[in-house]
Amino acid sequence: MHAVEIKPNIYWVGAIDWTVRDFHGYITPNGTSYNNYLIMDEQITLVDAVKKDLSRTCLDRISSVVDPSKIKNIVVNHIEMDHGAVDKIMAVAPNASLFMTKLAKYGLDRHFDTSKWDINIVKSGDELSIGKKTLLFLETPMLHWPDSMVTYVKEDKLLISQDAFGQHYASSARFDDQVPIEELEDAVTDYYANILMPFGKLIKSKLAEIEKLGLEIDMIAPDHGVIWRRDPSKVLRMYNDMASSKAECSAVIIYDTMWKSTQLMTRPLMEGLLAEGVPTKVIKLRNTPMSVAIKEFWKSRGMLVGTPTLNNLMFPSVAEFLTHLRGLRPTNRIACAFGSYGWGGGAVREAYGELNKMKLETYEPGIAVKYRPDHEDMKKIHEFGKQFGRRLKEYHKKF
Ligand code: FEO
Repeated sequence: MHAVEIKPNIYWVGAIDWTVRDFHGYITPNGTSYNNYLIMDEQITLVDAVKKDLSRTCLDRISSVVDPSKIKNIVVNHIEMDHGAVDKIMAVAPNASLFMTKLAKYGLDRHFDTSKWDINIVKSGDELSIGKKTLLFLETPMLHWPDSMVTYVKEDKLLISQDAFGQHYASSARFDDQVPIEELEDAVTDYYANILMPFGKLIKSKLAEIEKLGLEIDMIAPDHGVIWRRDPSKVLRMYNDMASSKAECSAVIIYDTMWKSTQLMTRPLMEGLLAEGVPTKVIKLRNTPMSVAIKEFWKSRGMLVGTPTLNNLMFPSVAEFLTHLRGLRPTNRIACAFGSYGWGGGAVREAYGELNKMKLETYEPGIAVKYRPDHEDMKKIHEFGKQFGRRLKEYHKKF
């Protein structure tokens, strides 16, 4: 195991998780990495930790640079357990001092016996001189946990950004200029949509705060994925755009089906949207990981939700999707609902109930067909697709 020097005397000592496909329910088709960084200075400092079951890898990488027992400081930017090998590091460097936010200490105390650990609380603006280098801490509450902060190495213009600007992307490459940019953009969007979507306003204000502080950033090193060295401003711009609810003038049809009636409806809907010049994707929920459906929702300005009626309610996979989406507090999107029923109906109404709880712009009353769409129904559905496409294009002009 070797460490990768990312700046003079600063090393990546993380672990690559090639096999993880389910990250607390979030599907990670590209695996991930758990990054942490070793700063060699008068006080040897480790920023963040890897997942506990990969701690051996991390310690081996540290050992390729220095005896891990010589670590003097450990910075804990965030206390989610995918960075939870803190106790493993403390086991080899028991006299190390830890630096974290007040809320991170609370989390740490709940996970470990910290009674013998030297824990130091830091807040925004606090600095730690470790020799030739100076660490500046900046709290980033709810980005994405209440305890979160980032660490800026002033002399190196290096932002160690914790989960922010990261990607679930396993690769032998360590830097953005070593991987296809389209893959990276997709991974950033996926991460943002599934984890950071609720925090757009906070992200905007935190980005503005960083700008106001005048921090020069020529490298961003997140806790997952590759490090931004070619053009760190690219990911800053992407975050600013996403936090401003930038979306494509396109639509996504997200549906499920029992006996293929709702599925049949997706075809004239898509044709109607295309007739209006609105690019459209179609996603069947039971065939698609939830996180992919969320990402596709986020990329498009408009969504059409399709659901059969089951016992007067939505089909369970559609209800699950909308509940999950509501938790992500989406904004600045327009949505409508469609579906089929056998005798009582109710699913389309229920879907609108969920969409309205999210305070999305809705196009109502949607469209529902009994049993199976016939030729006349198909024409009406096509027209509905066109009408929604026109409404979507008008709505998109607001942004
Ligand atoms: Fe990568 Fe929020 O932990």
